[in-house]
Amino acid sequence: PTEIHRVRNLNRLQMGKYDVEPWYFSPYPESFSDVDMVYIDEFCLSYFDNQRAFERHRTKCTLVHPPGNEIYRDDNISFFEVDGRRQRTWCRNLCLLSKLFLDHKTLYYDVDPFLFYCMCTRDETGCHLVGYFSKEKDSAEGYNLACILTLPQYQRHGFGRLLIQFSYELSKREGKLGSPEKPLSDLGLLGYRQYWLETLVRLLLEPGKEAISENELAVATAMTEKDVHETLVVYNMLRYHKGNWVIVLTDYVIDEYNKRLEKAKVKGERKIDPSRLQWKPPV
Ligand code: COA
Ligand code: NA
Repeated sequence: PTEIHRVRNLNRLQMGKYDVEPWYFSPYPESFSDVDMVYIDEFCLSYFDNQRAFERHRTKCTLVHPPGNEIYRDDNISFFEVDGRRQRTWCRNLCLLSKLFLDHKTLYYDVDPFLFYCMCTRDETGCHLVGYFSKEKDSAEGYNLACILTLPQYQRHGFGRLLIQFSYELSKREGKLGSPEKPLSDLGLLGYRQYWLETLVRLLLEPGKEAISENELAVATAMTEKDVHETLVVYNMLRYHKGNWVIVLTDYVIDEYNKRLEKAKVKGERKIDPSRLQWKPPV
């Protein structure tokens, strides 16, 4: 299923109350590239090339949330765990939709090996998909996330950070260290760099953490030692001192951290509350 360097094929999407402009090619039916608007049912993710067919479908469609177990709920958001094997059509529709915003050359039709963690906001009409990440049921490389997406209409509101945090909370429950599948997109790397730095600095600022090791940082955050180490290198936080490598909090890093906290406050960003996660690792 390889689609190399194909140009963007859809003009516009309507999804829920949003009009969305696709970024990249996705293998929707070829005839869909001729229409001005493609209609996506925001709950079942079915797609239509005309409004009449879409509206006819809407009168019959009963889905009001992703087809899986709700494993997390707070005042703002819910997470649903959707099994690719049990919900093949829904998950394929999700992959097709997300390919519109992913610069990958391949689309994986084989959704069976994946779980999809779908984040929604709730209102009286249902649970509206904001973003998701997929995760291999059994990753030989120890990846805790395969693909991550915040739908464009919801980007830059801190939802990507919530998705990333959630992926690490699952790893903590599994008692594992995890890392996202490589390569990351430019936007993916930006999001992760921010998250990693913020997470490490928050820990390093705690009292008594002055002499913490890279391994202890990894265990406390569920980040791999490699990701811990690379983050410390990228932000120039390692110094060689009397025969040992020590971790230093530079003024620059503390400054960045405080700016981020301030920004989060202004934006009213929330965090995942691990005590609200109702989930055991699948056996
Ligand atoms: N330009 C610059 N920095 C950006 C950015 C952009 N367009 N989007 C995200 N960032 C960085 C910022 O530092 C941001 O923090 P800030 O807004 O406080 O400055 C940080 O990432 C987190 O932003 P957040 O709002 O939590 O992320 P998001 O909800 O917009 O989602 C992605 C981030 C990566 C999930 C989203 O951009 C996406 O879905 N992209 C398309 C799919 C993709 O590339 N996925 C990764 C494949 S590996
Ligand atoms: Na990727």
